[in-house]
Amino acid sequence: MESMMRNALLYLSKNRMANRTAKKYGLRFGAKRFVAGESVSEAIGTVKRLNEQGIVATLDHLGEFVGTVEEAELSTEACLHTLDEIERSGVRSNLSLKLTQLGLDLSPELCLANMRRILDRASAYGNFVRIDMEDYAHNEPAIELFCRLRERYGDTVGLVIQAYLYKSEADLARLSVYAPNLRLVKGAYKEPPEVAYPDKADVDRSFIKLIETHLANGHYAAVATHDDNVIEHTIAFAARNRIPLSQFEFQMLYGIRPQRQLELASAGYTMRVYVPFGNDWYGYFMRRLAERPANVAFVMKSMFKS
Ligand code: FDA
Repeated sequence: MESMMRNALLYLSKNRMANRTAKKYGLRFGAKRFVAGESVSEAIGTVKRLNEQGIVATLDHLGEFVGTVEEAELSTEACLHTLDEIERSGVRSNLSLKLTQLGLDLSPELCLANMRRILDRASAYGNFVRIDMEDYAHNEPAIELFCRLRERYGDTVGLVIQAYLYKSEADLARLSVYAPNLRLVKGAYKEPPEVAYPDKADVDRSFIKLIETHLANGHYAAVATHDDNVIEHTIAFAARNRIPLSQFEFQMLYGIRPQRQLELASAGYTMRVYVPFGNDWYGYFMRRLAERPANVAFVMKSMFKS
């Protein structure tokens, strides 16, 4: 039952018509719990509040289904504007983005040019940009683009590796030459068993292995999870292997386990919250619902209240 619901929600997350409707009607159905508003100023306000609690952030201007050069240009401008606003306001936040927002499906060269504009701006500010990882079809193009950017922009750019993919262990080894800053996650998309572990226990094992390998290699890891087993395991592994606190951080999504976020920050760990904003919230919101049926119950309640 749970897996049927998950599949249905992931399927719906890709529905263009629903996405268009959602954009028109604004943040609804409890999406406010996971999305920090539609404007950059609302998002910066949220980051300020997090910073006051000792938590840093990564801002994501939500954007999916980019189908034209003009839309990719608008997304690029939104990323540049977000970097400007981070700098202007002095909040402690970097930027996360998706390559399809910048036109990856239209042309890898267009996407590369847009990424260069964004990374030029981020370097000028001494900030950092993380490329989120999308579905399997975009995995290899994202890795290739990251390698090209990494040579020119060094530590200004980082990538994400998904534990559910069989290929990720080999990818981690391949990327190791760059000593990259990687966000490690379980993986949020619906992938077939030909490319991804179908069993949760295998995903969890792969996740732990990637975290240990990346840390043991001496590289920076952003461990992005709400799973206490993984968090505790990372803390114990780092302590046992004398891995300094400056070599890793924890990341969680805005609206999920805020109390745990505070606890980790208070215990001295770098805690970064992923803060999405913008009117293109539909796909992101549906993936969050797919991750946890309890969230669906929450949404149903908020639908009937409004
Ligand atoms: P999982 O969903 O397996 O949950 C494990 C346990 O965590 C639960 O059993 C429960 O104990 C606890 N838990 C989870 N949610 C809870 C809640 N709401 N309240 C209380 N307890 C809860 N994916 C991707 O494919 N590409 C990407 O670029 C990113 N980027 C990204 C950034 C950040 C900052 C995060 C946190 C996550 C991503 N993801 C992602 C999503 C990721 O792949 C994954 O889908 C989600 O994080 C859910 O997996 P968890 O590791 O949280 O564990």
